This record gives sequence, C-alpha cells and structure tokens, in this order.
Amino acid sequence: MSTLSIVGIAGSLSTPSSSRRLIDLTLARINRGIAADNRVIDIAALGSLAVHSRDAAGGELEDALRAVEEADLIVAATPVYKGSYSGLFKHFVDLLDYRSLVGTPVALLATGGSERHALVIEHQLRPLFAVFQAQVLGTGLFLTGKDMADGRITDPAAEARLDRLVDEAVEALTARLAAKRSKAA
Ligand SMILES: Cc1cc2nc3c(=O)[nH]c(=O)nc-3n(C[C@H](O)[C@H](O)[C@H](O)COP(=O)(O)O)c2cc1C
Repeated sequence: MSTLSIVGIAGSLSTPSSSRRLIDLTLARINRGIAADNRVIDIAALGSLAVHSRDAAGGELEDALRAVEEADLIVAATPVYKGSYSGLFKHFVDLLDYRSLVGTPVALLATGGSERHALVIEHQLRPLFAVFQAQVLGTGLFLTGKDMADGRITDPAAEARLDRLVDEAVEALTARLAAKRSKAA
C-alpha cells in the first residue's frame, strides 16, 4: 500500500516558535482529511548546516534534505526576518536539488511581528518555490501574534484561510496517492 509523506520545514531560530506551531496545527488538520506520515525539520536544530554545497552535506542534514525532496507535500513555514524568510530557511532551501520539487505541492506559512510584511508569502516565498517548478497551493497563511493565543488561532478570518489551505492540501495529496497507486498497479 502506498504511503504519503508530509514534510514540514521550520525556519525559525526561536524556541518556542509561532511559525513552528503553525506547522503543527496545519499537519494535524491535514491528517484529519487524509492519512500520511509526518515529519517536521527544525532547521536550527540540524547539525553541520554551514556547508557551501550539497556535496558537503552529510548525515542528519543530507537525510533532512532528502526527506524534503521525496515528500508528497511540503509545509514550509518561516518567521519574517527583515521583510523576508529567515536566512537559515533560505540556506536550507539553497541546498535542495533544483530538479527535485517539480510538481510537488507546497503549502506556505509565515508569521510576523506586524501586518507590515503580510505579503511575504506572495512576494518572497511563492517565487522561491516557483524556481523549483513546485505546485504551490493557492492559499498561503500569514499570522501575527494578534491572530494566535496559547498556540491556537483566534482570528476567524485566519481560521477560514487555514481551512481553505488544508482543503487544497488534502486535494493535492489525494491526487498524489491516486498517481502512486496507478503507477504501482
Ligand atoms: C531578526 C529578526 C527580524 C525580524 N524582522 C521582522 C520584519 O521585518 N517584519 C516583521 O513583521 N517581523 C519581524 N520580526 C518578528 C518575527 O517575524 C515575529 O516575531 C515572528 O512571529 C517570529 O516567529 P517565530 O516565533 O516562529 O520565530 C523579526 C524578528 C527577528 C528576530
């Protein structure tokens, strides 16, 4: 039987992290719609990240990169740093094989200190994954501290947006599963 894999990429250097929490909320919701193996990669916790090329990536880092490259769905989340994704997040993405994510569904999440940089998803993250020819989901989610309390989303509009994102993710995973099954048959 084919198994789906969802891999979260958490780009924050903070603990606890609101963007990491958002990954957990999103994965839990997606799993209500479709069964899949989940893995979340906390980039800041990876050893030996300071490599200049993929050839130099070993052990834990290589394993994490490969998991992303083989995922059926990527859930990418970053805090806004200076109007963009965190530098750590970009460095991890820089190490991915540029051929590996063609057609892979990607859900985009971000958190910021204010709404000033709410378009980080549209102007920074979406073009980054377009470079890979990934299938970025139409709905992304940007939240600030005002939209969350005790690790939960409190803003109804943000909740509705998450629902839409989850529906799109489940639909994309359902299509991946069907494709895997017909390939295996
Ligand atoms: C180095 C640094 C730069 C930041 N730059 C911005 C910024 O440009 N715009 C913004 O809205 N928030 C900015 N913030 C605030 C974070 O985006 C915000 O606190 C976010 O929710 C943190 O997410 P996390 O808990 O997952 O780390 C910055 C925070 C740090 C530490």
